[in-house]
Amino acid sequence: MAAIMFRRRLLLGALCISNIALGNVLSLQSILESEGIVAYFEDQPNYQNASTPFNLRLPFKPVAIAYPSNVEEVAGAIVAGASLNVPVCARSGGHSYGAFSLGGEDGHLVIDLSMIRDIHIDNSTSVAIIGTGNRLGDVATGLFNQAGRALPHGTCPLVGIGGHTSYGGYGFTSRQWGLTLDAVIGATVALANGTIVETSASQNSDLFWALRGAAPSFGIVTHFHFQTFAAPTQPTYFNYYWSLPLDQAITAIELYQKFSSSPSLPKEIGFELNLFKGSAMGEILVNLQGSYYGSPEGYDAIVDPFLSAMPNQTSEPQVNVTSWLENLALLAGTPLATTPAFLATDHDTFYSKSLTTPSDTPMSQEAIVALANLMSTEGWNTSTNWFVQLELYGGLSSQISMTSSNATAYFNRQSLWTIQFYASSSDYSPPYPEEGFTFVDRLVASITAAEPDTFRYGAYPNYIDASLTPHEWQTLYYGSNLDRLRKIKSEVDPTGVFTFPQSIPSDSLFVV
Ligand SMILES: Cc1cc2nc3c(=O)[nH]c(=O)nc-3n(C[C@H](O)[C@H](O)[C@H](O)COP(=O)(O)OP(=O)(O)OC[C@H]3O[C@@H](n4cnc5c(N)ncnc54)[C@H](O)[C@@H]3O)c2cc1C
Ligand SMILES: *[C@@H]1O[C@H](CO)[C@@H](O)[C@H](O)[C@H]1NC(C)=O
Ligand SMILES: *[C@@H]1O[C@H](CO)[C@@H](O)[C@H](O)[C@H]1NC(C)=O
Ligand SMILES: *[C@@H]1O[C@H](CO)[C@@H](O)[C@H](O)[C@H]1NC(C)=O
Ligand SMILES: *[C@@H]1O[C@H](CO)[C@@H](O)[C@H](O)[C@H]1NC(C)=O
Ligand SMILES: *[C@@H]1O[C@H](CO)[C@@H](O)[C@H](O)[C@H]1NC(C)=O
Ligand SMILES: *[C@@H]1O[C@H](CO)[C@@H](O)[C@H](O)[C@H]1NC(C)=O
Ligand SMILES: *[C@@H]1O[C@H](CO)[C@@H](O)[C@H](O)[C@H]1NC(C)=O
Repeated sequence: MAAIMFRRRLLLGALCISNIALGNVLSLQSILESEGIVAYFEDQPNYQNASTPFNLRLPFKPVAIAYPSNVEEVAGAIVAGASLNVPVCARSGGHSYGAFSLGGEDGHLVIDLSMIRDIHIDNSTSVAIIGTGNRLGDVATGLFNQAGRALPHGTCPLVGIGGHTSYGGYGFTSRQWGLTLDAVIGATVALANGTIVETSASQNSDLFWALRGAAPSFGIVTHFHFQTFAAPTQPTYFNYYWSLPLDQAITAIELYQKFSSSPSLPKEIGFELNLFKGSAMGEILVNLQGSYYGSPEGYDAIVDPFLSAMPNQTSEPQVNVTSWLENLALLAGTPLATTPAFLATDHDTFYSKSLTTPSDTPMSQEAIVALANLMSTEGWNTSTNWFVQLELYGGLSSQISMTSSNATAYFNRQSLWTIQFYASSSDYSPPYPEEGFTFVDRLVASITAAEPDTFRYGAYPNYIDASLTPHEWQTLYYGSNLDRLRKIKSEVDPTGVFTFPQSIPSDSLFVV
């Protein structure tokens, strides 16, 4: 009975989160204070800075931002929030496109992990235990400098390892090593009821399965345990540009699709095709960027089938054989160091969507023409700064696709590309123009409207898209893994302490 009432209160809390009683806010403040956990509330001077999202379009107002320094304090803060009906969320690097690490709406307790930044490698097993307050730049530098090791992950040094690993983690080494979450062999997690658990294939294995693709709905991971890889010794970075009229841009995308699925493409290469506003109406700027991790002499022969079929390049090609850390800095286009000055300027104002393309169904010529048409016309007259990015996930030997779609909560493994559609405001600051939403929506629709129902596309949770309806995001992110996720959610977070706009629903919320 008491348990049922407790549930009811939490459910009620979840429904009126932006309306938390002042008394509860004061109680939260005094609980956190008594536990010695630093936290900023709305009336405090640090609150503004601490609650600024990466995406300035979404300035949600949390109840508080707490800075626990170990897993016990994380658990204490979760229980404090839950006991007062305040939904709780984690923040690692804060780069969620939908500002979900602020809750994705007003009224959440944010557990910021920036005090948990240890990186420990066991030299005998090469297993790294990494605190989730680390950013990708810290992780790459720490692993390499301590032991010459590496992980597959994305290019931006300021993205957090917490969110990135939770929802996927794609980089140019992913075709040979998998997604970041594929390297996870264990995780230390604080649950909704304050219990701290270790998870792995043999310990709390259902939860371990759910964490790798949907962690934010299940708990707060303080440490991921990774099986690391030997850092490549002579990576080749490459970057090419073509400024093309519409007809040649269409041909380029078709060639790229053929190249992407070529049986001779080794898993040691990773790349993406980026499409930008052209230099005139009716044109598109096309860019190929990536890296090759095999021996440098082999590189030319691998890319030649694509390059030799393309028109002349617009600018000097860039090809660099460097050390591992220099390669990562070239891909980032910035230094890897996560300095305060770098962090302070790291914002954008944008709207984005994604679409994963099925590896067994090539994108039709009709869809490619429709997409290119839109980019060369509306893409020319829009005020936004946009790009469309065709990231290679598949290809015949890709490690991402070698893992089955139900092996982890992350579902979309049989994809040739993950396409990202991204438009920033003209000066990367607020306000965000209405036409940015329609332009991005129309880019996606140009493809989906042209394809038959057999074109089973998905979406990438790390490019989280708050505009999707529940039916859309549940299907597009999780496919047939959703039912198992709901079941596990009902067991480990029945009352929905970790509730946010796209959290896995708990079945038990509906039977109370
Ligand atoms: C500039 C930029 C470049 C990017 N490049 C790439 C790329 O190359 N490849 C790629 O795959 N993606 C890329 N992304 C997307 C990126 O992977 C996601 O935005 C990612 O979720 C951000 O992680 P974070 O920790 O910084 O974000 P946060 O906003 O802190 O977290 C994201 C989500 O995860 C939850 N969360 C965070 N930490 C934890 C934790 N420890 N336990 C449980 N839940 C947690 C949060 O509550 C939130 O819901 C990029 C994003 C940006 C902004
Ligand atoms: C703002 O917060 C960041 C951490 O998120 C911190 O590094 C920085 O010093 C803060 N800036 C100010 C002016 O307080
Ligand atoms: C681990 O190995 C690296 C070299 O690969 C060495 O520099 C480091 O000291 C070793 N660490 C420990 C704890 O033995
Ligand atoms: C492309 O480059 C080659 C070699 O530099 C040159 O001979 C050729 O004329 C160029 N083609 C076009 C269409 O500019
Ligand atoms: C990379 O190579 C290009 C030429 O391909 C050269 O201009 C540039 O200086 C190189 N950069 C680095 C960091 O080596
Ligand atoms: C851009 O041009 C297209 C037609 O080419 C038109 O439909 C659209 O409204 C224009 N958009 C803007 C923002 O001017
Ligand atoms: C994954 O699916 C296959 C069949 O498609 C099934 O045999 C297997 O048991 C499933 N694995 C898990 C972990 O559910
Ligand atoms: C907390 O939740 C976990 C997962 O459901 C459960 O195993 C554990 O018994 C719970 N602990 C308490 C104290 O209720």
